Amino acid sequence: MKKIKLPLHSELLSRDFIFGVATSSFQIEGAADRREPCIWDTFCAEQGRIKDGSHGLNACEHIDRWQDDVALIASLGVDAYRFSIAWGRVIRADGTVNQEGLGFYVNLVERLAALGIASHVTLYHWDLPQYLEDRGGWLNRETAYRFAEYAEVVAKALGNHVASYATLNEPFCSAYLSYEAGIHAPGYKNRKYGRQAAHHLLLAHGLALTPLRKYAPNAEHGIVLNFSPCHPASCDPADRQAAQLAHAYHNLWYLQAILKGQYPDLGDKISPSDLPDLEPGDLTTISQPIDFLGVNYYTRTVFREKNGWFSDVPPTTPPLTTMGWEIYAEGLTEILVDLQNTFGKLPTVYITENGAAFPDKVENNQVHDTARVDYYHQHLNAVHAAIEQGVPVKGYFAWSLLDNFEWAEGYTQRFGIVYVDFDTQQRTIKDSGRALQQLWHERKKQVEAQQA
Ligand code: FCB
Repeated sequence: MKKIKLPLHSELLSRDFIFGVATSSFQIEGAADRREPCIWDTFCAEQGRIKDGSHGLNACEHIDRWQDDVALIASLGVDAYRFSIAWGRVIRADGTVNQEGLGFYVNLVERLAALGIASHVTLYHWDLPQYLEDRGGWLNRETAYRFAEYAEVVAKALGNHVASYATLNEPFCSAYLSYEAGIHAPGYKNRKYGRQAAHHLLLAHGLALTPLRKYAPNAEHGIVLNFSPCHPASCDPADRQAAQLAHAYHNLWYLQAILKGQYPDLGDKISPSDLPDLEPGDLTTISQPIDFLGVNYYTRTVFREKNGWFSDVPPTTPPLTTMGWEIYAEGLTEILVDLQNTFGKLPTVYITENGAAFPDKVENNQVHDTARVDYYHQHLNAVHAAIEQGVPVKGYFAWSLLDNFEWAEGYTQRFGIVYVDFDTQQRTIKDSGRALQQLWHERKKQVEAQQA
């Protein structure tokens, strides 16, 4: 079996660096009958929205299989587990707390702690309760206040037992893909909607920091953003400008608001009527200090100019993943160093997601996903290179623990380091999972030897 090799003196092998695996609630939990419906249930029920016509009602049945899944996580030798909480499993439509739903996460965090695994919680990984979407969802400012109330309920229950709280996962996706590009739930296609949703999401992030800090003062608080270096399709100045615009619109829109309290200036590229409506003080709320920045990285994106705006050029040069994404590990180093240069100094960075989908097959209880082993090898080395250049990366989470419901792609994309047979729910550790397991176990041995 192929190994993942890191440079001998890499920070990644030190005791202070954390390694983990990541999942999200809607993608693995199932047990939809024990929570409120969310926007993804509605979206899945609409004809033609999900590639294979599937849904997340059962997914990986994690709610009923969590004890085995936690044992599996522990067997990998991780330091940490990143998962998300389903808002609609915790807060009912009438505003009351679903104690059974909340209790699920309390038990999960306790069990993880007993096994020496730190919990890294994400409060919102896209599964907005449908009862809130019915009142306007992220287009309604009130949703941001409901989010802060929900955050308070969670922080009161889990408090300092959680190592880190991320308010949101990838607001780019829950704003742009969901309200502007129409690809994700609830499926709107409107530029103004996208900007407004993004603003309310960021406001929700800022508002939630107050109860989070109050009830979990020793935990770290931050947000998870996705980044993709934006490259021009040609040397044509119009394409270069298009790539810069895409970078401002997709990457900086979120981080600049959080770290600097301002949105990027798009000049005359955007009509003023498409800019979000703000209230005084919003950007101050949004730009409170954060303890960490979660970075999700998968690939780079190439852009060309189209009608005074940008348009992405789908990659064709192999190797591509089954998502059609280019494998471009140096882009991870590039974007981290670029952000560090742009903002002077970044807070602690966790790579909160990184991984790839390939056409995996089980043969004799094994999955030989060599391409994924190579992917992790290259990307971990790209993280090492970023650290060498001064970026304060302190952790890395593989996406994903399990094959799961991949949003608009349904079950057609396998991102897991553990294979899931969706008919039998059997889990099989892939070669990539074994390679990471070996790396993590060897590292633990080294750390223990250093301490002895
Ligand atoms: C990210 C999402 C995650 C998963 C991966 C492949 O954008 O955060 O849920 O879908 O992509």
